[in-house]
Amino acid sequence: MNKAIYKRIVLKISGEALAGEQGFGIEEQTLQLIAGQIRDVVALGVEVSIVVGGGNIWRGISGNARGIERTTADYMGMLATVMNALALQSALEGNDVPTRVQTAIEMREIAEPFIRRKAMRHLEKGRVVIFGAGTGNPYFSTDTTAALRAAEMGAEVILMAKKVDGVYDADPVSHPDAKMYTSLSFIDVLNNGLRVMDATAASLCMENNIKIQVFNLTENGNIMKAVCGEPIGTVIGRE
Ligand code: GTP
Repeated sequence: MNKAIYKRIVLKISGEALAGEQGFGIEEQTLQLIAGQIRDVVALGVEVSIVVGGGNIWRGISGNARGIERTTADYMGMLATVMNALALQSALEGNDVPTRVQTAIEMREIAEPFIRRKAMRHLEKGRVVIFGAGTGNPYFSTDTTAALRAAEMGAEVILMAKKVDGVYDADPVSHPDAKMYTSLSFIDVLNNGLRVMDATAASLCMENNIKIQVFNLTENGNIMKAVCGEPIGTVIGRE
């Protein structure tokens, strides 16, 4: 019998993870794999909010290369996260999981605006809340959004779902001998420039004592393992 060690979590799903093997856009199989795993942890009574990236559709940072001004490119990235949020909502509701999407930039015809107290009520009622449009500001990543929403929602942990098993000392794709860390401190992440998240996100988590667990989303059952405290992937904490 699975037993959750957390009451409230933020699940950070990168846009790339949604693209699956195809590398771009949203892969149906991956979407279903994620939705099924979330359904199972919601069934345990865990309150789940999701922050999703948009890199599978548009990367703000790549805008420069195309002559698009940085802030505009970042807003385009925020719109991409809304598309992913709606796709996740649809997949979750197809799995009978009640959801609400809230966006940091108001687009009322599409979704609710972000209202912290309303999001809390949704969580208490067992709904999965999906946060779209990042923080609503350029220059902030969706990792920072996850840290911010986790602090606002009082979540104990950010489950950072990636396409790799955890945090490595080198890129595991180009360096097959790269070593995976099982635990790290935020100071290690900041001092060693480990590219697991940006410094803003790491500092916010450190200051607010929010733990991060980085793990591989593509292995079915991993979200459940993380929620039940199994030592998968890399855990990042204060010490
Ligand atoms: P409770 O009343 O607390 O149970 O929450 P609720 O979300 O069921 O109530 P509400 O009447 O606010 O929302 C009903 C439906 O309308 C839900 O699917 C909401 O996501 C949606 N909804 C609420 N506000 C907005 C909005 O500003 N824009 C859009 N597009 N949908 C909204």
